Amino acid sequence: MIAQGKDIGQAAARRGSRATAPDKPGDPAGTYTCCLMKTLDAAQEAAVRRIVAELKGRPGPLIEVLHAIQQDLGYVPEAAVAPVAEGLNLSRAEVHGVVTFYHHFRRAPAGAHTVSLCQAEACQSMGALALAEHARRRLGVGFHETTPDGRFTLEPIYCLGNCACSPAAMIDGKLHGRLTPARFDELIAAQAKSP
Ligand code: FES
Repeated sequence: MIAQGKDIGQAAARRGSRATAPDKPGDPAGTYTCCLMKTLDAAQEAAVRRIVAELKGRPGPLIEVLHAIQQDLGYVPEAAVAPVAEGLNLSRAEVHGVVTFYHHFRRAPAGAHTVSLCQAEACQSMGALALAEHARRRLGVGFHETTPDGRFTLEPIYCLGNCACSPAAMIDGKLHGRLTPARFDELIAAQAKSP
């Protein structure tokens, strides 16, 4: 069962996350410097506030709100923490703790192309770990990272429902099976030529 935001947020606060995400703007004890208007443009701010308003009545809505923000904006900006906390009546530390606890939540925009490599059991038994190592070398980044040129974001994923064709990957939403390092390189080369 997925942990609730309050539990994770409280744990994060105990670990000291409050030092980077105090509950109140201007808290002299904290170093939270992200200003909503500085880092969220008007469209982003409107989207965050709309999502919070739409979902805040759900039970334990934080995870759902963060998923919706990521789906809408492509990531969860640090500056979204304050309006989410305010809208859901949580502390900023609680929201910040959940965003940083789950790798699924991107804290920066993804690259132009998202490469998701399946790391679940069936794919592992067919060489997914070695393929991931190859991908890291080929792209020069680890999981949850984006190449410096902004072209590729590399992510792990856990079962694409394509186990019969392991190891599997998804590139920009398109499924690929029976991947080898050579085939991976071909796909990356093809993507690199596209916008
Ligand atoms: S385990 Fe990789 S697609 Fe199912």
